[in-house]
Amino acid sequence: MVALNSLSKNTALALSGALLTAISFTVVNGEAQKDFKLSCQSWFLNGTTFTAFCNSPSGGFGVQSSLDLNRCIANFNGILVCAQNGFYSQSCRNCAVTPPPGSVLSCECQEVFSGPFIPASFDLNTCVSDLNGSLACP
Ligand SMILES: *[C@@H]1O[C@H](CO)[C@@H](O)[C@H](O)[C@H]1NC(C)=O
Ligand SMILES: *[C@@H]1O[C@H](CO)[C@@H](O)[C@H](O)[C@H]1NC(C)=O
Repeated sequence: MVALNSLSKNTALALSGALLTAISFTVVNGEAQKDFKLSCQSWFLNGTTFTAFCNSPSGGFGVQSSLDLNRCIANFNGILVCAQNGFYSQSCRNCAVTPPPGSVLSCECQEVFSGPFIPASFDLNTCVSDLNGSLACP
């Protein structure tokens, strides 16, 4: 319910064009916002480990944080989606993330078990958050 509440509040604020208000709102409430690019930099992927340097509460981008994307991404019939413990790497290969300011995860994934590997991509920024200097996903 927290995620749904957060989503609808943020969506409502975004629709009204109050982006700065949305950011303050998230910080004040300590809630995750699915937009790590706002407060992180220098991210990269190594295997399934996504690492970024995010804002510390005292400022700067000094907080290094890592997240196993298998906890965040699933391969759903050849389409990458944001899903808790999705373990996309079991059926995807040759994955890479476009360097900052890009955030697109591109892989080759199977549509069906034992099927051919076909290109699939997904914007991590729609799934991964910076929660007080820690990368997080649903
Ligand atoms: C954020 O991190 C700071 C420093 O580690 C900590 O004092 C604070 O309680 C954290 N806030 C939340 C909402 O987790
Ligand atoms: C990537 O991960 C491997 C295995 O944990 C590690 O040995 C290597 O140093 C890492 N490379 C980078 C660039 O972090």
